[in-house]
Amino acid sequence: MEGALTARDRVGIQDFVLLDETTDAAFLSNLKKRFSNDLIYTYIGTLLVSVNPYKELDIYNKKQMDIYMGVNFFELPPHIYALADNAYHTMLTEFNNHFILISGESGAGKTEASKKILQYYAVSCPSTTLLNTVRDKMLMSNPVLEAFGNAKTLKNDNSSRFGKYMDIQFNSEGDAVGGHILNYLLEKSRVVHQNHGERNFHIFYQLVVGASDDLLHQLGLERDCQHYTYLTQGECAIVSSINDNNDWKTVKNALQVIEFDEIDTNHLFGIVASVLHLGNIQFECDSKGHVLLSNNNAELRWVSNLLGVDAHTLQEGLTFRKLEAKKDQVLSPFTIDHAIYARDALAKAIYGQTFTWLVNKINESMENKDPSRKMIIGLLDIYGFEVFYVNSFEQFCINYCNEKLQQLFIQLTLKAEQEEYEAENIEWEPVQFFNNKIICDLIEERHRGIISILDEECLRPGDATDLTFLERLEEKMGNHPHFVTHKLADKMTRKTLERGDFRLLHYAGEVTYCVVGFLDKNNDLLYRNIKDLMCHSKNAIVRECFSTMDPDSRKRPETVATQFKSSLLKLTEILVAKEAWYIRCLKSNESKQSGQFDEALIRHQVKYLGLMEHLRVRRAGFAYRRKYEIFLKRYKPLCPATWPHWRGEPADGVEILVQHLGYLPHEYKMGRTKIFIRHPRTLYATEDAYEKCKHELATRLQAKYKGYKAKGEFRKQKEAATKIETCWRGVQARKEKERRAWAVKVIKQFIKGYMTRGQAKCTDNSEYLAFVRQNYLNRLKDNLPKTVLDKTTWQSPPHVLKETSEMLRKIHYRLMVRKYVRGITPQRKAQLQLKLITSSIFKGKKDSYPQSVAQPFENTRINEQDINARVLQMIRNEHIKYSVPVIKYDRNGCKPRPRQLILTQTAAYVLEEAKIKQRVLYTSLKGISVSNLSDSIIVFHITCEDPKQKGDLVIQCDYLYEFLTKLSVIANKQNAIKVVQGSIKIEIQAGKESAVDFTTGQEPMVYKAKNGHLMVVASRARTR
Ligand SMILES: Nc1ncnc2c1ncn2[C@@H]1O[C@H](COP(=O)(O)OP(=O)(O)OP(=O)(O)O)[C@@H](O)[C@H]1O
Ligand SMILES: [Mg+2]
Repeated sequence: MEGALTARDRVGIQDFVLLDETTDAAFLSNLKKRFSNDLIYTYIGTLLVSVNPYKELDIYNKKQMDIYMGVNFFELPPHIYALADNAYHTMLTEFNNHFILISGESGAGKTEASKKILQYYAVSCPSTTLLNTVRDKMLMSNPVLEAFGNAKTLKNDNSSRFGKYMDIQFNSEGDAVGGHILNYLLEKSRVVHQNHGERNFHIFYQLVVGASDDLLHQLGLERDCQHYTYLTQGECAIVSSINDNNDWKTVKNALQVIEFDEIDTNHLFGIVASVLHLGNIQFECDSKGHVLLSNNNAELRWVSNLLGVDAHTLQEGLTFRKLEAKKDQVLSPFTIDHAIYARDALAKAIYGQTFTWLVNKINESMENKDPSRKMIIGLLDIYGFEVFYVNSFEQFCINYCNEKLQQLFIQLTLKAEQEEYEAENIEWEPVQFFNNKIICDLIEERHRGIISILDEECLRPGDATDLTFLERLEEKMGNHPHFVTHKLADKMTRKTLERGDFRLLHYAGEVTYCVVGFLDKNNDLLYRNIKDLMCHSKNAIVRECFSTMDPDSRKRPETVATQFKSSLLKLTEILVAKEAWYIRCLKSNESKQSGQFDEALIRHQVKYLGLMEHLRVRRAGFAYRRKYEIFLKRYKPLCPATWPHWRGEPADGVEILVQHLGYLPHEYKMGRTKIFIRHPRTLYATEDAYEKCKHELATRLQAKYKGYKAKGEFRKQKEAATKIETCWRGVQARKEKERRAWAVKVIKQFIKGYMTRGQAKCTDNSEYLAFVRQNYLNRLKDNLPKTVLDKTTWQSPPHVLKETSEMLRKIHYRLMVRKYVRGITPQRKAQLQLKLITSSIFKGKKDSYPQSVAQPFENTRINEQDINARVLQMIRNEHIKYSVPVIKYDRNGCKPRPRQLILTQTAAYVLEEAKIKQRVLYTSLKGISVSNLSDSIIVFHITCEDPKQKGDLVIQCDYLYEFLTKLSVIANKQNAIKVVQGSIKIEIQAGKESAVDFTTGQEPMVYKAKNGHLMVVASRARTR
């Protein structure tokens, strides 16, 4: 950590506590070195010193905010975000309230600092839509309050002319959930008077410059600041550093965010405009010296119109005083001075009251109505110490306020710190510092202080004036070392004082106040008839403001100074109940220039802000202290002896704890009730260890808890599973039971159905029959015959379906046939037709027929080119239909002769090479015989009337069926073919007969039998 610190300290020293020597020169030199590198922030311990750079620095963006979020204070270079973050996290860990005191003279950067802090919280705190609304309101309250409460002064173009203390409320999760503002003494006199070079409150210029033409017309205003007396006294209505037009837009938008409705907004701007009109009302005297309104009544009418009051009564209120004598009311005319006083008093009162109303309204909008406990970070941004050429009652109040804050600072830091060391018996070398209590007393002490004397003069009957007040001061304060007047001063000093002045030697320097106006401003009187009138205003804001002022009360209201004193007292009470964080703002130069480091000016501020004393106390003292109980409670997990419980005295526990942590003796001291830790680094090391340990502990606790949860969950799941199982089993068992009952019923029904299956359909058998039917049909469907020839596969039907089955069978076969028929080609069809003829002739008659069925028929068995050309030439007039090789047996010798046999359309030719051996006209063919055996002998019976004919022709043809079928078709001899048993008679010649005998044997053969017959042995037919 130490190394990291040095590394970051490249430009000067980040924390003055680490400076080698505590001299003014070293302090200033470090500040300057850092300032010239745009490092405007430096620490004194946890106090933040900020020097106004008067230029935009790129250190306030989201990235920077992220860097500082949740990081230990000294881990990163000094920044206002680090302080804001530290306050926030301390609040969250310790559950207590805090405040950030931002001090410094006018223009030192207090308001800017407070805005930066607010922005930081707006970005860094957890967010939800609801919370964002609250945050927007908090952020947006700033431009509105600045418009109405800030003004350009000689010191600062955006000088706060009221004090502001804002509470930011956080819930236990650290969400910003609400806000509340307390406002302190607005410098009302600015409404009616501004010094040279200064302006009225921003809102007036914003309205005149920025408002739409319509709005200006509605309010009776002209777009020209020079037109309004209240805006021109400082002679600087338009300033280059201020963009009234843009600011006007921001304010309008902000008013919407903080939920101002149209009526409120109209009334509000009506009031602002009415003040401008009031300022333009002029008076003159009539001949009796009585005051009259100058020729133009238009301004008065606008005022009465905008404030919603009767114009006549208003005029009367501004020119006459109402005196009550017994029960009568008498009107006493004003002098011009009185009239001007009354007018200005009204303008101030209206504006001042409206400002308070505005704060209340903003508070309503930011209020958090949830009663749960909140933690608070308060932001105090009050007008800074200021010295002008002429200083009046307002500067007196402002500077008094700064005295009080300085006193609070001293009490909470220097004095309290040192007293604490004493009370705790810590060895200590006291540091000398200037205690400004003496000045606070001079101003506020009861009966003897300046405020008391001022009040006495204000209340005293008779002709008390500002000067009699001064005399009374001189009487009472004559010897006070911090008070001097012209009369009391020595010769040298007297030269610097006017007769009507008094000078206070404030903690921050001398200020000479001019007493003129002190009494009036302190009285802040408004004539009663005007007050009454305002109570009946039609402008709701004015009516509300003045009604609460209680005009009927006879009691004199508290003077302004006393009210202010009381409110500061209350503020002090609010602040001391919280933990303090400090930002000390320094002004770098008087001319608002960037980069200028006015050493004399800064040295002066360092001095009066007591920064050196603070540094000395810090260096000599201890950065951190905590009650033993609190310290032990937080860090006890770091030591086994104190974790989880320490039963002995807290101090002893702390001693053991720090020993365990390895604190060196010079790093800490044990007080009576607290432990004091000298360096932040020691604490941060402890805190880091705690963070680490916290995570470990959390992990352990988490693991335990998760285990516990998981076990519980497991047990629950197991129980649930058992229960589900039981239920499921029950359900299953019930289902099973139902199933079985159903099965019994079905089986019974089945048996009954089976037994009565032969009867007509009745209740007993209808289901059974349906089942049988379905079953059969299903079976049938899966086992249908695949071919037409398959006659065996058909499922045998049950009794009831016999008829149906038969019908189905027919249908099915028809279907197959149809399919088959549709599927065959014309060639195949022709072939089949031939086969059909073959069948009609031979089926069941000749043994070899079945084997022939599967052999396809050819168109011919001899190609034309294999037939002798001469033959072809000879029979060229006849179309050859079919040719086949045959063996011809001689009629007598029975010798086999191979021949070609040709069928034409008219005759059959027996050929031997080129010779036509025999021509058999179909007409002369009386019959054809074949045996019933498996031989292939064919006998052509030929009419023998023609002597040319040689007798019957015996041939053997391997393609017997094909040949005969073709022949029967060509020659139309179907009926001429006979299948003969035993032997076939043949006519060898006309009148000469023989026979062909047929028998069966082992080997087929053909030979001439002894009887001269042709013997044909057919092989034995295979069993068919
Ligand atoms: N951190 C900053 N960065 C840049 N400019 C700054 C910063 N702080 C202050 N300034 C400049 O200084 C001007 C005066 O600052 P600011 O209004 O905060 O002063 P103040 O201390 O509130 O004065 P007063 O007491 O008069 O209200 C700002 O308008 C701005 O121009
Ligand atoms: Mg300010």
